[in-house]
Amino acid sequence: MKAVAVFPAERRFDVIDHPEPRLASPTEVKLRMLDVGICGTDKEIVSFNYGTPPDGSKYLVIGHESLAEVIEAGPKVTQLKPGDLAVATVRRPCPVPTCIACRAGRQDFCYTGLYTERGIMCRHGYMTELVVEDEQYLNLVPRTLRDVAVLVEPLTIAEKAVAQLWQIQQRLPWVLPPEPGEPPAHGRNALVLGAGPVGLLGAMKLALEGFDTTVYSRTSGAENIEALVKSLGAKFVHAETTDVAGLAEQIGNIDVVYEAVGASSLAFDVIQHLGTNGVFIFTGVPGRRGPISVDTDALMRDHVLKNQIIFGTVNAAPIHFAHAISDLGSFVERWPEAVRSLITRRFPIEQAAEPLEGKSPGIKNVIALSEQ
Ligand code: BGC
Ligand code: ZN
Repeated sequence: MKAVAVFPAERRFDVIDHPEPRLASPTEVKLRMLDVGICGTDKEIVSFNYGTPPDGSKYLVIGHESLAEVIEAGPKVTQLKPGDLAVATVRRPCPVPTCIACRAGRQDFCYTGLYTERGIMCRHGYMTELVVEDEQYLNLVPRTLRDVAVLVEPLTIAEKAVAQLWQIQQRLPWVLPPEPGEPPAHGRNALVLGAGPVGLLGAMKLALEGFDTTVYSRTSGAENIEALVKSLGAKFVHAETTDVAGLAEQIGNIDVVYEAVGASSLAFDVIQHLGTNGVFIFTGVPGRRGPISVDTDALMRDHVLKNQIIFGTVNAAPIHFAHAISDLGSFVERWPEAVRSLITRRFPIEQAAEPLEGKSPGIKNVIALSEQ
């Protein structure tokens, strides 16, 4: 069957013929892949800057943002049946008995770094026709989300971030979601850095949670993105015409920053304007461009005197997939056009090189492995 694979030692990637998988345990499910999204991680992998093939394989089948249809279920599968739609998680636990996170099913917090990731680290991914996966790594998706559910995995990044944000802000009870009938809470100014898929899905999640949300982006020719952001009831500020100080002035006390650019210079510019009791969330993985200068005394003073917190977050657990699936349904109800417009274009697998090499603009490009 066809698969998109990268051969790091040969510095090439291609559509290859990959052996069809078979059910090997009674709790496994066979899936026909429908959609596989492309993100920055995939582009890094096909430019040989990231990613590792499984032991003994010359190549890695890429793809980790998935949507599939169940075509066969092992005899001990209880939650899925043929015809169901499912999105798979990405990370698999490390083998170390003392890794309490992995042993608890929370490999998104793996201590050893010996976890594997489908389509990224030591495990083949989903950009292929058929996949076999254990039921525990699959999340049931309603049919009504068929056209947009490939956005579930990138949305899980925001779900895990916002879940942690609420845990942190338990320290400020007046910030927590208001009870029905209560006035909107204080501390609800959110700033999203970046208007790619992770940023826009983060903006949707924050808007859904009642944040007064501003998206700040350098996107040139962003008229349609600006309109998309405004349709969420959020604000759009152009980085080309407004500097970070001007941005901060417009927002007031910046309570939350959701960083989705992966550029440390912008991030640390913004951290200097983080508000009192503010939380700054890193989701981007920058390249190694070398040191920049930052006023560390000012940073440290502010962190102490303004009770600030910076945290980073990666990957997601099954609970975040469940939240993403349910929130995506809410997004579609509230902003049907905005959600659909996040998916720019679907490509057949034979044309995968075009979006993977960054030759097709837009928000989220998808490899469509099936017409239905
Ligand atoms: C994926 C995460 C993964 C991370 C690091 C991201 O693109 O969405 O699931 O953990 O890359 O490999
Ligand atoms: Zn990704």
